[in-house]
Amino acid sequence: MGSHLTDSLLKSGYHVIGVDNLSHGSLENLKDARSNANFEFHQQDVCDLDGLRKISAGVSMIAHLAAFKIPRYGKAIDTLLINAQGSHSVLQLAVELKAKFMLASTSDVYGKNPKIPFSEEDDSVIGPSTVARWSYAASKMFDEHLALAYADAYGIPVSIVRIFGSYGPRQNLTWWGGPQSVFIGAILRGETIPIHGDGLQTRSFTFCSDTVAGLHAVLENGPSGEIFNIGSNEEISIVELAKLIHKLSGVKEELKLSFTPYNEISAGRKYEDVRRRVPDTSKAKRMLGFEAKVKVADGLKRTIEWQRALQEVELAPAGAR
Ligand SMILES: NC(=O)c1ccc[n+]([C@@H]2O[C@H](COP(=O)([O-])OP(=O)(O)OC[C@H]3O[C@@H](n4cnc5c(N)ncnc54)[C@H](O)[C@@H]3O)[C@@H](O)[C@H]2O)c1
Repeated sequence: MGSHLTDSLLKSGYHVIGVDNLSHGSLENLKDARSNANFEFHQQDVCDLDGLRKISAGVSMIAHLAAFKIPRYGKAIDTLLINAQGSHSVLQLAVELKAKFMLASTSDVYGKNPKIPFSEEDDSVIGPSTVARWSYAASKMFDEHLALAYADAYGIPVSIVRIFGSYGPRQNLTWWGGPQSVFIGAILRGETIPIHGDGLQTRSFTFCSDTVAGLHAVLENGPSGEIFNIGSNEEISIVELAKLIHKLSGVKEELKLSFTPYNEISAGRKYEDVRRRVPDTSKAKRMLGFEAKVKVADGLKRTIEWQRALQEVELAPAGAR
């Protein structure tokens, strides 16, 4: 998301300072940006406030996207500490710079709330602390509270975006990047698609260009103290997603699915999933004129093309690359 937002801001004429410690990011995604004189990049940890101070003179707006996600296979301690400490140090920086601050939060904060669609004032219904996957939602809820408390205590403008399952070119190719990358990779290699649970859980996947249009609108025009759902309201189950990717890929081999019970994910640790996830997007439409435009089938086609091209480069003999 950070590289796409960078491109969008550069296109609008901003000077952009990109900060990423490259724990999960890739410089390849910033190839276009790095050839633009209005862009600078710093490999830098957002938890290091002194390091941030040295590179941010004159900054007027901060989009804080650096974070760790659901620890499906990784450690909850990273998600909790990086998200809490990173947000704290970036908020301190925003106060010093008197800069506008936008926090990238997540639809996961609605958790298991059965009321569909989720609107920004709805309750967060998360599971017990013994289930490590909730550490992501807990860390982002803490970040949201901290950002709003900073706005209250120090008067800086703060906006929050809750992103719904964003995907597209440049996504991480492991589970970190979401099911699209894993499913597309498996289908293109003729492998079995791994489905977690029964696959009937639904999501509202949002193509990266739509997500970034929403983030850009909130950064420029989001009133302080407001939270916005940024997502598409086209709902699809995980099994339907696998079938659609298979169809769009044009791969001749039959679709192969394997179902992994939740208690076997995460090295035997307890896991809980969200059954349905659909945003109420009326607030972003009403206050910002933002609405997702790209249909899942179109976004997936573009993502499959991108991933296929990457895979062809990987499979090409070294001399041909
Ligand atoms: N993509 C989605 O579907 C989605 C959904 C909900 C919320 N979000 C939120 O949006 C933001 C961006 O998500 P993304 O999908 O682009 O994730 P991503 O993992 O691709 O990008 C996050 C970036 O943060 C960097 N990072 C991590 N820890 C850092 C640290 N301590 N210092 C500096 N950089 C660090 C990583 O290297 C990575 O490039 C995140 O805050 C995420 O929680 C994304």
